Amino acid sequence: MQVVTRIAELRAQLEPFRRAGRTIGLVPTMGYLHQGHEALVRAARQECDVVVVSIFVNPLQFAPNEDFESYPRDSERDRAILSAAGTDFLFQPAVAEVYPRPLLTDVAVPELSRTLEGRTRPTHFQGVATVVLKLFHIVWPDKAYFGQKDGQQVAVVRRLCEDLDLPLELRVVPTVREQDGLALSSRNVYLSSEERRAAPSLHDALLCGREAALAGKEGQAVQAAMEERLRKEPRVRLDYAAVVDPDTMQPKSDLTGQVMLALAAYVGRTRLIDNLVLDL
Ligand code: PAJ
Repeated sequence: MQVVTRIAELRAQLEPFRRAGRTIGLVPTMGYLHQGHEALVRAARQECDVVVVSIFVNPLQFAPNEDFESYPRDSERDRAILSAAGTDFLFQPAVAEVYPRPLLTDVAVPELSRTLEGRTRPTHFQGVATVVLKLFHIVWPDKAYFGQKDGQQVAVVRRLCEDLDLPLELRVVPTVREQDGLALSSRNVYLSSEERRAAPSLHDALLCGREAALAGKEGQAVQAAMEERLRKEPRVRLDYAAVVDPDTMQPKSDLTGQVMLALAAYVGRTRLIDNLVLDL
């Protein structure tokens, strides 16, 4: 595995592969890797000739009150994981390489960024859209890999690609979970052991929602079923439970076709998100 920190060098390294017609897969991450990230890398390894993984904790997607400074980092461990997973190039730029001067350009998908996560994190998806578009232009991947765990992020990136005719295929990988249902997340390390025991209730709530949806309930009732399950857990404070169209992020009440059940909740001081997509 080659570790590259400069944009120009990565482009120069990838150019011969592209010219030889090799397919390039990109897995954008913020590091502190777990088996969820590994599933993305494995998918890229299976489907592409050249696998590029980026590790960049993107300051633009963190609000001033959020955990940019304290976001967990472990470069050595990440490199060992990526190397073992068959990564060809690790792109790990410094902040100054990606943002050498203040941006005067906005990249945003406001319509999909205002609801759900956007309520608590109004600038988050603009930061995500900006860095993802930059990474796409740096790497020019044939396929880019994202996790369903961040369902709204998938919707934002998909629409960005469609609206701007980006010539790449978005690949969405199912959420990887612990045995007890908790979705893997770099932020799970923040949980105390008691909080860790309470955290699977997010997934339990999604399952309650799914049961209600499969029983033919409408959106409101499905949302209520999720909320009721989380109210039973004193260590968990609900931020939102929602039943939405997975493409538009708009609430859905008549539940047919694709439906996304989405949750965000504080477990202690840690904010966790999770979702399930149903095909009804
Ligand atoms: P990060 O949180 O590091 O996640 C990187 C990728 O891994 C995302 O596509 C995310 O959805 C996926 N992922 C995380 N946990 C997962 C799980 N349990 N199962 C499956 N996939 C999982 O998401 C970001 O970074 C950033 O916003 C980024 C896209 C890199 C832009 O900065």
